[in-house]
Amino acid sequence: MAVDAGQFRSALGTFATGITIVTTRAPCGADVGLTVNSFNSVSLEPPMVLWSLAKKFRSRQAFIDSGYFAVHILAAEQSELATRFASQPDRFRGLALDRSERGLPLLQGCTARFQCKVISCYEGGDHDIFVGEVSAFEHFGRPALVLQAGRYAVALEKPEPPAAEANAESTGVARNSITYLLVQAYYRLQLGIRPELARHNLSETEHYILAAVALISPCTVNQVRDRIAISGYQVARADLRRLARRGLLSLSDEARADPSVQLTKAGREMVLHIAAMTKAIEEDAVTDLQYTEIDVLKQMLRKIVRRTQPSWQRAGEEGGGDASAADAVRTVPAAVVGDN
Ligand SMILES: Cc1cc2nc3c(=O)[nH]c(=O)nc-3n(C[C@H](O)[C@H](O)[C@H](O)COP(=O)(O)O)c2cc1C
Repeated sequence: MAVDAGQFRSALGTFATGITIVTTRAPCGADVGLTVNSFNSVSLEPPMVLWSLAKKFRSRQAFIDSGYFAVHILAAEQSELATRFASQPDRFRGLALDRSERGLPLLQGCTARFQCKVISCYEGGDHDIFVGEVSAFEHFGRPALVLQAGRYAVALEKPEPPAAEANAESTGVARNSITYLLVQAYYRLQLGIRPELARHNLSETEHYILAAVALISPCTVNQVRDRIAISGYQVARADLRRLARRGLLSLSDEARADPSVQLTKAGREMVLHIAAMTKAIEEDAVTDLQYTEIDVLKQMLRKIVRRTQPSWQRAGEEGGGDASAADAVRTVPAAVVGDN
Protein backbone atom coordinates (compact mmCIF):
# COMPACT_ATOMS: atom_id res chain seq x y z
CA MET A 1 0.00 0.00 0.00
CA ALA A 2 1.38 3.41 -0.95
CA VAL A 3 1.21 5.62 2.11
CA ASP A 4 1.41 9.38 2.25
CA ALA A 5 3.96 9.84 5.04
CA GLY A 6 2.48 13.15 6.20
CA GLN A 7 -1.06 11.81 6.39
CA PHE A 8 0.12 8.62 8.10
CA ARG A 9 2.04 10.65 10.68
CA SER A 10 -0.93 12.92 11.32
CA ALA A 11 -3.30 9.94 11.72
CA LEU A 12 -0.86 8.37 14.21
CA GLY A 13 -0.69 11.71 16.03
CA THR A 14 -4.33 11.40 17.06
CA PHE A 15 -3.16 8.72 19.52
CA ALA A 16 -2.37 10.75 22.65
CA THR A 17 0.86 9.71 24.36
CA GLY A 18 3.07 10.85 27.17
CA ILE A 19 6.51 12.19 26.29
CA THR A 20 9.76 10.70 27.48
CA ILE A 21 13.44 11.40 27.21
CA VAL A 22 15.52 8.24 26.82
CA THR A 23 19.16 8.51 27.85
CA THR A 24 22.25 6.36 27.86
CA ARG A 25 26.00 6.65 28.21
CA ALA A 26 28.16 5.87 25.19
CA PRO A 27 31.21 3.64 25.79
CA CYS A 28 33.38 6.78 25.31
CA GLY A 29 31.65 8.28 28.36
CA ALA A 30 29.48 10.80 26.45
CA ASP A 31 25.93 11.36 27.67
CA VAL A 32 23.35 10.67 24.96
CA GLY A 33 19.61 11.27 24.94
CA LEU A 34 16.61 12.05 22.78
CA THR A 35 12.92 12.84 23.06
CA VAL A 36 10.72 9.78 22.48
CA ASN A 37 6.98 9.26 22.43
CA SER A 38 7.04 5.65 21.16
CA PHE A 39 7.62 4.44 24.75
CA ASN A 40 5.22 1.81 26.04
CA SER A 41 4.84 -0.80 28.73
CA VAL A 42 5.28 -4.46 27.72
CA SER A 43 5.15 -6.74 30.74
CA LEU A 44 4.56 -6.50 34.49
CA GLU A 45 6.26 -9.77 35.43
CA PRO A 46 9.08 -9.45 34.57
CA PRO A 47 8.83 -5.64 34.33
CA MET A 48 9.54 -4.69 30.71
CA VAL A 49 9.16 -1.60 28.52
CA LEU A 50 9.87 -0.72 24.89
CA TRP A 51 10.52 2.25 22.64
CA SER A 52 11.60 2.66 19.04
CA LEU A 53 14.50 4.62 17.59
CA ALA A 54 14.86 5.73 13.96
CA LYS A 55 17.81 3.86 12.44
CA LYS A 56 19.15 7.06 10.88
CA PHE A 57 19.68 8.84 14.21
CA ARG A 58 23.22 9.42 15.37
CA SER A 59 22.42 8.25 18.92
CA ARG A 60 21.55 4.73 17.64
CA GLN A 61 25.05 3.27 17.98
CA ALA A 62 25.40 4.53 21.56
CA PHE A 63 22.19 2.73 22.62
CA ILE A 64 23.27 -0.48 20.87
CA ASP A 65 26.79 -0.37 22.35
CA SER A 66 25.72 0.60 25.86
CA GLY A 67 23.06 -2.09 26.33
CA TYR A 68 21.38 0.05 29.00
CA PHE A 69 18.98 3.01 28.90
CA ALA A 70 16.96 5.22 31.24
CA VAL A 71 13.46 6.46 30.43
CA HIS A 72 12.15 9.73 31.93
CA ILE A 73 8.42 10.42 31.71
CA LEU A 74 8.24 14.18 31.46
CA ALA A 75 6.20 16.35 33.81
CA ALA A 76 3.68 18.88 32.47
CA GLU A 77 6.08 21.82 32.82
CA GLN A 78 8.96 20.10 30.96
CA SER A 79 7.94 20.80 27.36
CA GLU A 80 11.09 22.92 26.85
CA LEU A 81 13.19 19.91 27.81
CA ALA A 82 11.30 17.83 25.20
CA THR A 83 12.13 20.42 22.54
CA ARG A 84 15.77 20.60 23.65
CA PHE A 85 16.22 16.80 23.44
CA ALA A 86 14.68 16.70 19.98
CA SER A 87 16.75 19.47 18.47
CA GLN A 88 19.72 20.94 20.31
CA PRO A 89 23.24 19.59 19.83
CA ASP A 90 24.47 20.07 23.42
CA ARG A 91 21.44 18.63 25.20
CA PHE A 92 22.81 18.03 28.70
CA ARG A 93 24.56 21.37 29.10
CA GLY A 94 23.64 23.11 32.36
CA LEU A 95 21.24 20.38 33.52
CA ALA A 96 21.41 19.05 37.08
CA LEU A 97 21.84 15.29 36.68
CA ASP A 98 21.69 12.24 38.92
CA ARG A 99 23.62 9.10 37.91
CA SER A 100 22.55 5.47 37.84
CA GLU A 101 24.91 2.84 39.24
CA ARG A 102 26.16 2.32 35.68
CA GLY A 103 26.74 6.05 35.24
CA LEU A 104 23.73 6.69 32.99
CA PRO A 105 22.53 10.32 33.11
CA LEU A 106 19.26 10.64 35.07
CA LEU A 107 17.24 13.83 34.52
CA GLN A 108 15.45 15.58 37.37
CA GLY A 109 11.93 17.03 37.63
CA CYS A 110 10.21 14.28 35.64
CA THR A 111 7.15 12.38 36.84
CA ALA A 112 8.70 8.89 36.70
CA ARG A 113 11.97 7.36 35.59
CA PHE A 114 13.00 3.80 34.77
CA GLN A 115 16.47 2.22 34.54
CA CYS A 116 16.54 -0.60 32.03
CA LYS A 117 18.80 -3.28 30.52
CA VAL A 118 18.32 -3.95 26.80
CA ILE A 119 17.10 -7.56 26.46
CA SER A 120 16.03 -7.48 22.80
CA CYS A 121 16.41 -5.17 19.84
CA TYR A 122 14.08 -5.87 16.91
CA GLU A 123 14.04 -4.33 13.47
CA GLY A 124 10.80 -2.49 12.75
CA GLY A 125 11.00 -0.97 9.28
CA ASP A 126 13.04 2.22 9.51
CA HIS A 127 13.16 1.97 13.33
CA ASP A 128 14.80 -0.34 15.88
CA ILE A 129 12.56 -1.48 18.71
CA PHE A 130 14.41 -1.59 22.03
CA VAL A 131 12.88 -3.85 24.67
CA GLY A 132 14.28 -3.33 28.16
CA GLU A 133 13.92 -5.07 31.48
CA VAL A 134 13.39 -2.55 34.28
CA SER A 135 15.95 -2.85 37.07
CA ALA A 136 14.85 0.21 39.09
CA PHE A 137 12.22 2.89 38.87
CA GLU A 138 11.03 6.01 40.70
CA HIS A 139 7.58 7.60 40.65
CA PHE A 140 7.36 11.27 41.66
CA GLY A 141 3.62 11.76 41.07
CA ARG A 142 3.84 15.03 39.11
CA PRO A 143 1.21 15.71 36.39
CA ALA A 144 2.52 14.38 33.06
CA LEU A 145 3.17 16.14 29.77
CA VAL A 146 0.99 14.82 26.96
CA LEU A 147 1.39 14.86 23.15
CA GLN A 148 -1.77 15.00 21.10
CA ALA A 149 -2.04 15.81 17.39
CA GLY A 150 1.50 17.18 17.41
CA ARG A 151 0.88 19.60 20.28
CA TYR A 152 1.97 19.51 23.90
CA ALA A 153 -0.99 19.21 26.21
CA VAL A 154 -1.95 18.40 29.78
CA ALA A 155 -4.37 15.69 30.84
CA LEU A 156 -7.52 16.70 32.67
CA GLU A 157 -10.08 14.37 34.13
CA LYS A 158 -13.08 14.21 31.82
CA PRO A 159 -15.94 16.02 33.56
CA GLU A 160 -19.08 14.09 34.39
CA PRO A 161 -22.03 15.23 32.28
CA PRO A 162 -24.04 17.72 34.37
CA ALA A 163 -27.22 16.45 36.00
CA ALA A 164 -30.27 16.99 33.80
CA GLU A 165 -31.78 19.55 36.17
CA ALA A 166 -28.59 21.65 35.96
CA ASN A 167 -29.34 22.26 32.30
CA ALA A 168 -33.03 22.86 32.77
CA GLU A 169 -33.94 26.42 31.88
CA SER A 170 -37.58 26.29 32.97
CA THR A 171 -36.93 28.97 35.59
CA GLY A 172 -34.96 31.08 33.11
CA VAL A 173 -31.76 30.35 35.02
CA ALA A 174 -29.48 27.75 33.44
CA ARG A 175 -27.44 26.46 36.34
CA ASN A 176 -24.93 25.08 33.88
CA SER A 177 -24.35 28.34 32.01
CA ILE A 178 -20.90 29.89 32.22
CA THR A 179 -22.32 33.18 33.46
CA TYR A 180 -24.24 31.49 36.28
CA LEU A 181 -21.18 29.49 37.34
CA LEU A 182 -18.83 32.47 37.17
CA VAL A 183 -21.17 34.64 39.20
CA GLN A 184 -21.70 31.89 41.80
CA ALA A 185 -17.95 31.39 42.10
CA TYR A 186 -17.40 35.15 42.36
CA TYR A 187 -20.09 35.66 45.02
CA ARG A 188 -18.79 32.76 47.08
CA LEU A 189 -15.22 34.02 46.94
CA GLN A 190 -16.48 37.45 47.96
CA LEU A 191 -18.37 35.98 50.93
CA GLY A 192 -15.05 35.47 52.71
CA ILE A 193 -13.92 39.03 52.03
CA ARG A 194 -17.08 40.92 52.95
CA PRO A 195 -16.72 40.49 56.74
CA GLU A 196 -13.18 41.86 56.50
CA LEU A 197 -14.39 44.86 54.49
CA ALA A 198 -17.11 45.41 57.11
CA ARG A 199 -14.54 45.16 59.90
CA HIS A 200 -12.63 48.01 58.26
CA ASN A 201 -15.86 49.88 57.56
CA LEU A 202 -15.29 49.72 53.79
CA SER A 203 -18.08 49.26 51.25
CA GLU A 204 -17.44 47.14 48.17
CA THR A 205 -17.41 50.28 46.01
CA GLU A 206 -14.78 51.84 48.28
CA HIS A 207 -12.72 48.69 48.05
CA TYR A 208 -12.96 48.76 44.24
CA ILE A 209 -11.91 52.41 44.25
CA LEU A 210 -8.85 51.68 46.38
CA ALA A 211 -7.95 48.65 44.23
CA ALA A 212 -8.40 50.69 41.03
CA VAL A 213 -6.18 53.50 42.33
CA ALA A 214 -3.60 50.92 43.46
CA LEU A 215 -3.24 49.61 39.91
CA ILE A 216 -1.60 52.86 38.77
CA SER A 217 -1.02 55.47 41.41
CA PRO A 218 -1.16 58.42 40.95
CA CYS A 219 -3.99 58.61 38.44
CA THR A 220 -6.91 60.91 37.82
CA VAL A 221 -10.48 60.69 39.07
CA ASN A 222 -11.73 59.99 35.54
CA GLN A 223 -9.28 57.12 35.18
CA VAL A 224 -10.63 55.61 38.40
CA ARG A 225 -14.16 55.98 37.02
CA ASP A 226 -13.15 54.28 33.77
CA ARG A 227 -11.55 51.38 35.59
CA ILE A 228 -14.58 50.77 37.74
CA ALA A 229 -17.21 51.47 35.07
CA ILE A 230 -17.32 47.81 34.02
CA SER A 231 -18.60 46.75 37.45
CA GLY A 232 -21.56 49.11 37.06
CA TYR A 233 -20.59 51.11 40.16
CA GLN A 234 -20.66 54.88 39.79
CA VAL A 235 -17.79 56.66 41.49
CA ALA A 236 -18.95 59.93 43.01
CA ARG A 237 -16.52 62.64 44.08
CA ALA A 238 -18.04 62.21 47.57
CA ASP A 239 -16.78 58.59 47.69
CA LEU A 240 -13.25 59.78 47.00
CA ARG A 241 -13.50 62.59 49.56
CA ARG A 242 -14.74 60.12 52.19
CA LEU A 243 -11.73 57.85 51.57
CA ALA A 244 -9.46 60.91 51.66
CA ARG A 245 -10.94 61.98 55.03
CA ARG A 246 -10.18 58.49 56.34
CA GLY A 247 -6.56 58.97 55.29
CA LEU A 248 -6.66 56.13 52.71
CA LEU A 249 -6.09 58.25 49.62
CA SER A 250 -5.17 61.80 48.79
CA LEU A 251 -6.77 64.12 46.24
CA SER A 252 -4.76 66.95 44.79
CA ASP A 253 -5.73 69.92 42.58
CA GLU A 254 -9.37 69.46 43.60
CA ALA A 255 -10.24 72.63 41.73
CA ARG A 256 -9.31 70.99 38.42
CA ALA A 257 -11.95 69.23 36.32
CA ASP A 258 -10.07 65.94 36.67
CA PRO A 259 -8.09 65.97 39.93
CA SER A 260 -5.24 63.63 40.62
CA VAL A 261 -5.68 60.84 43.17
CA GLN A 262 -3.21 58.52 44.90
CA LEU A 263 -3.07 56.06 47.76
CA THR A 264 -1.61 57.10 51.09
CA LYS A 265 0.61 54.71 53.04
CA ALA A 266 -2.43 53.58 55.04
CA GLY A 267 -4.40 53.10 51.80
CA ARG A 268 -1.66 50.96 50.31
CA GLU A 269 -1.50 48.85 53.46
CA MET A 270 -5.27 48.38 53.36
CA VAL A 271 -5.17 47.26 49.70
CA LEU A 272 -2.31 44.85 50.42
CA HIS A 273 -4.13 43.46 53.45
CA ILE A 274 -7.34 42.75 51.48
CA ALA A 275 -5.31 41.40 48.53
CA ALA A 276 -3.50 38.94 50.83
CA MET A 277 -6.83 37.84 52.24
CA THR A 278 -8.30 37.44 48.73
CA LYS A 279 -5.31 35.30 47.76
CA ALA A 280 -5.71 33.06 50.80
CA ILE A 281 -9.44 32.59 50.08
CA GLU A 282 -8.64 31.84 46.44
CA GLU A 283 -5.97 29.30 47.39
CA ASP A 284 -8.40 27.56 49.70
CA ALA A 285 -11.09 27.53 46.99
CA VAL A 286 -8.81 25.73 44.51
CA THR A 287 -7.55 23.12 46.99
CA ASP A 288 -9.34 20.31 45.15
CA LEU A 289 -7.99 21.35 41.73
CA GLN A 290 -4.78 19.90 40.35
CA TYR A 291 -2.15 22.43 39.45
CA THR A 292 -2.72 21.81 35.73
CA GLU A 293 -6.45 22.42 36.20
CA ILE A 294 -5.69 25.76 37.85
CA ASP A 295 -3.49 26.77 34.91
CA VAL A 296 -6.14 25.69 32.40
CA LEU A 297 -8.87 27.51 34.33
CA LYS A 298 -6.84 30.73 34.31
CA GLN A 299 -6.05 30.36 30.61
CA MET A 300 -9.73 29.91 29.77
CA LEU A 301 -10.84 32.81 31.94
CA ARG A 302 -8.22 35.03 30.29
CA LYS A 303 -9.60 34.05 26.87
CA ILE A 304 -13.15 34.89 27.95
CA VAL A 305 -11.98 38.20 29.45
CA ARG A 306 -10.18 39.11 26.20
CA ARG A 307 -13.07 38.07 24.00
CA THR A 308 -15.70 39.96 25.99
CA GLN A 309 -13.75 43.18 26.38
CA PRO A 310 -16.21 46.00 25.69
CA SER A 311 -15.29 48.24 22.77
CA TRP A 312 -15.52 51.40 24.90
CA GLN A 313 -13.00 49.99 27.31
CA ARG A 314 -10.69 48.88 24.50
CA ALA A 315 -10.79 52.43 23.17
CA GLY A 316 -10.03 53.80 26.64
CA GLU A 317 -6.96 51.63 26.93
CA GLU A 318 -5.52 52.59 23.59
CA GLY A 319 -4.46 55.95 25.01
CA GLY A 320 -1.69 54.44 27.13
CA GLY A 321 -3.88 52.37 29.43
CA ASP A 322 -2.42 49.61 31.50
CA ALA A 323 -3.54 46.17 30.29
CA SER A 324 -2.97 44.40 33.57
CA ALA A 325 -4.88 47.09 35.39
CA ALA A 326 -7.77 46.77 33.00
CA ASP A 327 -7.67 42.99 33.33
CA ALA A 328 -7.87 43.15 37.08
CA VAL A 329 -10.90 45.39 37.00
CA ARG A 330 -12.47 43.33 34.25
CA THR A 331 -12.43 40.24 36.46
CA VAL A 332 -15.41 41.66 38.29
CA PRO A 333 -18.43 40.08 36.59
CA ALA A 334 -20.89 42.62 35.27
CA ALA A 335 -23.65 40.57 36.87
CA VAL A 336 -22.52 41.81 40.29
CA VAL A 337 -23.88 45.19 39.40
CA GLY A 338 -26.41 46.47 41.86
CA ASP A 339 -25.95 43.69 44.39
CA ASN A 340 -25.16 46.14 47.20
C1 LIG B 1 7.53 14.73 20.83
C2 LIG B 1 8.62 13.97 20.10
C3 LIG B 1 8.63 12.60 20.08
C4 LIG B 1 9.62 11.88 19.42
N1 LIG B 1 9.61 10.53 19.44
C5 LIG B 1 10.58 9.84 18.81
C6 LIG B 1 10.61 8.41 18.87
O1 LIG B 1 9.77 7.77 19.49
N2 LIG B 1 11.62 7.75 18.22
C7 LIG B 1 12.58 8.45 17.52
O2 LIG B 1 13.47 7.81 16.94
N3 LIG B 1 12.57 9.81 17.45
C8 LIG B 1 11.61 10.52 18.08
N4 LIG B 1 11.62 11.87 18.04
C9 LIG B 1 12.66 12.58 17.31
C10 LIG B 1 13.96 12.69 18.07
O3 LIG B 1 13.77 13.14 19.40
C11 LIG B 1 14.88 13.70 17.39
O4 LIG B 1 14.91 13.52 16.02
C12 LIG B 1 16.27 13.70 17.96
O5 LIG B 1 16.92 14.88 17.57
C13 LIG B 1 17.12 12.53 17.47
O6 LIG B 1 18.34 12.67 18.17
P1 LIG B 1 19.74 12.14 17.58
O7 LIG B 1 19.83 12.65 16.17
O8 LIG B 1 20.75 12.77 18.50
O9 LIG B 1 19.73 10.68 17.65
C14 LIG B 1 10.63 12.59 18.72
C15 LIG B 1 10.64 13.98 18.72
C16 LIG B 1 9.65 14.67 19.41
C17 LIG B 1 9.67 16.18 19.44
